[in-house]
Order: sequence, then structure tokens, then C-alpha cells
Amino acid sequence: MSDRVATLTIDGKTIELPVYSPTEGQDVVDVGKLSASGYFTYDPGFVATASCDSKITFIDGDKGILLHRGYPIEQLAAESDYLETCYLLLNGELPNATEKTEFVETIRNHTMVHEQLVHLFRGFRRDAHPMAIMCGVVGALSAFYHDSMDIDDEVHRKVTAHRLIAKMPTLAAMSHKYALGQPFVYPRNDLSYAENFLHMMFATPAHHGESEYKVNPVIAKAMDRIFLLHADHEQNASTSTVRMAGSTGANPFACIASGIAALWGPAHGGANEAVLNQLAEIGDESRIDEYIKKAKDPNDSFRLMGFGHRVYKNYDPRARVMQQTCHEVFAELGVEDDPQLRIAQRLEQIALEDEYFVKRKLYPNVDFYSGIILKAIGIPVDMFTVIFATGRTPGWIAQWNEMISNPYKIMRPRQLYMGENARDFVPVDKR
Ligand code: ACO
Repeated sequence: MSDRVATLTIDGKTIELPVYSPTEGQDVVDVGKLSASGYFTYDPGFVATASCDSKITFIDGDKGILLHRGYPIEQLAAESDYLETCYLLLNGELPNATEKTEFVETIRNHTMVHEQLVHLFRGFRRDAHPMAIMCGVVGALSAFYHDSMDIDDEVHRKVTAHRLIAKMPTLAAMSHKYALGQPFVYPRNDLSYAENFLHMMFATPAHHGESEYKVNPVIAKAMDRIFLLHADHEQNASTSTVRMAGSTGANPFACIASGIAALWGPAHGGANEAVLNQLAEIGDESRIDEYIKKAKDPNDSFRLMGFGHRVYKNYDPRARVMQQTCHEVFAELGVEDDPQLRIAQRLEQIALEDEYFVKRKLYPNVDFYSGIILKAIGIPVDMFTVIFATGRTPGWIAQWNEMISNPYKIMRPRQLYMGENARDFVPVDKR
């Protein structure tokens, strides 16, 4: 794989480590041999660690580049659609027309969930956070598909991928309807993926004839884009969680449930929800300066949600597309004067001009815009991360599949132990 080496000298000992060149991006030093020499590497937060090799997604955070299977995200967002991008992520190539039709049909055929899952929903308190429900019900899918859970069988893995991509919107919409106390709305396979999701979210059985819920095409396009722009993002925290769980041989539904759990945190997918909660907390344009001051105060842990990214130290290319979609949706819905959205626009402007944010390259991230678009569409804030999870499912499953279909080891990091030295147990009456 490499004829280049890096030489590491420790305590007079010289160790040669192979250096690999990727097709795109930074060279990587293979430190695997170090443990045999009696050393581990130390990299909390994995800021300098490539945890695997992958052919799916490439990010150049300094240049603001995101490629899926080589295709720039801006081109996919402009010319492709979510399901085609799912196919690309899973299969490595864009589908031809027949393959595309077949794939869309296959996903449509899997949109319903087993009726017994309804009982599982009913077990949750009605004020349960939808992400709590999603962690549970997606993991519970493992109990329904015993016929296709041999992870070493390529066909089983494919069927599982299709099931997950197809059922996530159904489960997501069910978690929303459950909180509202409205009946679940069954999927409609005559609608597109995004239209069907909006239908399951907003239609009710009472809608009929003239008052039937009709999906606005601008909103459906925005929804499809939100899914597409979240489809994959190489080895982020939730994807690494899916890979780590998968490396134990756990079943794919359990692995995706672990990814959903990891996504929930406000430093990751929970940020789009946190953005809106923060806008509500700020409440009025007159208080923006106070919050900007807090964000800049080194003694205050407060952060401006929706700004900054571990990898992008340039404008996130997804945020650029999302910003454009944001304007399209606002114009369509005529909500430019919404007070929270006005605060958001002012924050965006400050962050792009203020020296603190400019110096640290803290640009608005994809969650900043997706949060405000979803709010404008009328999706409740606690559903935002669920929507992110729905969009990210093809990425998780493609990454899991890539790992399982190649030689892999259980992921088992080591540590820098800083605890007590070995000591003798002291009986309780002597302590
Ligand atoms: N508001 C104010 N200051 C910030 C912010 C922010 N949102 N983000 C980073 N900073 C500051 C830090 O205080 C630090 O300043 P210092 O150098 O003076 O100490 C500097 O910028 C670098 O920050 P780090 O924490 O080292 O950056 P890291 O890469 O670890 O964090 C993260 C990235 C977690 C995304 C961070 O920017 C953050 O918390 N943002 C808000 C939450 C958010 O929007 N998350 C969504 C991420 S995108 C996604 O998951 C799809």
C-alpha cells in the first residue's frame, strides 16, 4: 500500500511507520505497529486520527469541499435528489434510469412498518422526546426481521439498507403524531419520498376533498434537499458510533439505533434543535449583543448554536445550499418577518463580520439553516434531530456496509491511564 515511511524516535529507539497517500486529502501515518513496540498514540477527540479507510465521502474542511463518491455536494443538491444520492452512497455509482426507477420502487415497497410497532409507540409517555422514541423503535426493528439479519450475507445487508431508508420517515412521522395525539398516517406510495414524509407529518384522516392536505412542491423540494444534504459526512461522531457498534458484529438496526443516540447530542445533530431553542431564549433582536458577548467570553461556556464545525474551517458547502433553500422557502411562505427568523438572520450577519467568529472560522453550519427552514415549514423543534437522523440513515448504513464487506477488526481503543497505581484492598472497617 505504501513505500514511504515516517520515522519515529522514542527513547533512542527508531520505529518506521508506513505513510499512505489518499486519493484526496491529507497523508496518513499508519501507527498500528506502535503497540508491538510498547507505545500507543494519544489523540482524545480523534482530532488527528483516521479511524478507517473509506471510498464513500471526502471532506476538505479548509477548502469547504464535500464529495460523495467523488461528486460535489453542490451538484448533487442542484441536479440529483435524495433517493438517487442514497443509491450513490450505497452502490458507489449513480444509477442509470432503470436502476433509479427500480430503487425508488423498492424503497416505496418498504415504507410501511409492522403494525405491532404501534404497541411499542404506545408504551412511551406521550410527552416523550421523539429522539427517545426513535432510539427505541429503530433498535426494536431488529426483533422484526430475523429473515435478513445475517450480516455476512450481501443480499441481507442490501434488504436491511432498503428497509431502513424506507421506514425511517414513517417512524419519524409516527413519533410526531404520537406526541400530538393524532392517529398515525400510513405512507402513500404514489408520493415522492419527501412528499410522503410531509404527508405523514401533516395530513389527518379528517382531511378530505377540498381540505385534503396537499404538499407544497417548494416545501417538498426543500425537504428533499434537507435529507440530501444530511445523507453522509464521513467519520463524524454518529457514523463512527455506528461503525464501532458494527465492528462487534451487532445487527444493523442496533447499530443505527446507536448512531441515532450519538446524533442526539447538541454538539452534533441536536444542534439544529438547540439553534431554535437558543433563538427563543434570545427572544428579541435587542438582546442579540448580550448573547454575542456571552459567546465571546472565554470564561463563559456559552456557545452560539449553529456556528462552527470540527472539520469545516471555511463555509460548509451544505450551508451555502441550505441558505439558498432557506430564502426560497421564506419567499414561498411569506414568513420573512417572523421575529425568530429575523434574529437568525442578524446572528448570521454578525458571525460573518465579527472578528471573534471570523478569526476562529466559525461560519454558520448546516444545522443553523436547516433549523430555521424546518421551523418555517411548521415542523416542531423536537423533530429536527429526527429529521437529521432520517437523512443520515443512508450514510450510516453505507458506512456500516463498507466496513462489514471488507476485512475489519473490533474497534477497541486504548487509553492513557492516569489513575491510582496498584494498591491493596482495605476492608471496610479499616477505611
Ligand atoms: N460559539 C462561540 N464560540 C465558539 C463556538 C460557538 N458556536 N464554536 C467554537 N467556538 C470557539 C471556542 O470557544 C474556541 O475558542 P478559543 O480558541 O478562544 O478557545 C474556538 O472557537 C475553537 O473551538 P473548539 O471547541 O476547539 O472547536 P471544535 O472543533 O472542538 O468544536 C463544535 C466544533 C463542537 C461544532 C463547536 O463549534 C460548537 O460547539 N458549535 C456549536 C454547536 C453546533 O452548532 N454543532 C453542530 C455541528 S455541525 C453538525 O453536527 C452537523
